[in-house]
Amino acid sequence: MNAYLIKGARPLGGDPVDILLKDGRIAAIGDSLAATGAEVVEAAGLIALPGLVDLHTHLREPGREDAETVETGSRAAALGGFTAVHAMANTDPVADTAGVVEQVWRLGQEAGLVDVVPVGAVTVGLKGERLAELGAMADSAARVRVFSDDGHCVADPALMRRALEYVKAFDGVVAQHAEEPRLTVGAQMHEGDRSASLGLTGWPAAAEEAIIARDVLLAEHVGARLHVCHVSTAGSVEILRWAKSRGVQVTAEVTPHHLLLTDACAESYDPVFKVNPPLRTDADVEALRAGLADGTIDVVGTDHAPHAVEDKESEWAQARPGMLGLEQALSVVIETMVEPGRLDWAGVADRMSVRPAAIGRLADHGRPLAPGEPANLVLVDATARASVDPAALASRSRNSPYAGRELPGRVVATFLRGVPTVLDGKAQK
Ligand code: DOR
Ligand code: ZN
Repeated sequence: MNAYLIKGARPLGGDPVDILLKDGRIAAIGDSLAATGAEVVEAAGLIALPGLVDLHTHLREPGREDAETVETGSRAAALGGFTAVHAMANTDPVADTAGVVEQVWRLGQEAGLVDVVPVGAVTVGLKGERLAELGAMADSAARVRVFSDDGHCVADPALMRRALEYVKAFDGVVAQHAEEPRLTVGAQMHEGDRSASLGLTGWPAAAEEAIIARDVLLAEHVGARLHVCHVSTAGSVEILRWAKSRGVQVTAEVTPHHLLLTDACAESYDPVFKVNPPLRTDADVEALRAGLADGTIDVVGTDHAPHAVEDKESEWAQARPGMLGLEQALSVVIETMVEPGRLDWAGVADRMSVRPAAIGRLADHGRPLAPGEPANLVLVDATARASVDPAALASRSRNSPYAGRELPGRVVATFLRGVPTVLDGKAQK
């Protein structure tokens, strides 16, 4: 079947319409369209959004297929409403050559559930010493445009400057994991009253803010694009607001977990809440929500970080940082932004599809729901509420910080180029 007729969906929360998908594109949008051979999808009351795009996903393949594979992560993404995900470079081997990024890209094509867009490492082996083959990765079949040492900060300012100069030549962007390493040696959680009372080494807000301040100045000087990964502090939002007011080409992301959770979670000593950057304070969460609402923060990026049980279910200090995100990202955004009236559905589409696709220079994603456009879209039941059961997740890992939490919103269907990857809430392969 290469044609689907979606009946009565509400594009961006507007009036109900029928949407006809044919040969990978939106063929028509209107009232009471005739099915004529198309398979009918009843969508009365469902919100239609352009397929979500994640700029920050860890798929763990190659190297840690016990935690996630391109295929299992792609399935989690499709179930979360995504049609494209950027696969971070901190695999084993690191995605720092054309060969590795092409391998990841090819695995994504084979899985066929979302467009897997490889991110290239900025430095060889993520070591922060010399630049990787950025041009070769850009020219490869994977057409890399986003470069990041995520997990590590490009701490050397001269190297960061050179990376910005280099990617500018092919319209790439450096996505920085902003963490001044000298300020976070041994850090376990946000530095504040709670880290003091729990006796855990703190990760000060200034370690993030110092790098963002430095890098926006470098991006301005070079005239290149900078993207800031997982912004977590109120001060970072202020610096970004200032940089944007100067016209610096900087974009930024916030994770679902930083929009919802705080450092109070660490009081449980449950390592599922250990993440880098750490969960911050109520005041930071409020500033992040405000920054996402006013566009200072451009996008929601999941930082989906699957970890095997033996790496996560240990003492807090030994546990790896990171948490799952793909399958609950939209629900968390509905809970923290839509239900409180801080973002409407057009805003959700902008922050979770349009802007991330633009940053990654993806031509086929983040497009309007209009005739002639690629049929990448998601249907959401915004009224559904369910409690998160980690055992039911498609990810190969189980480190969800939302276990047992009731969240709004259910992805009913996801279409990638007109083909359903999710239907009735179930992955189609
Ligand atoms: O918590 C995190 N986990 N932060 C990162 O920067 C890396 C990620 C991972 O790869 O597990
Ligand atoms: Zn990171």
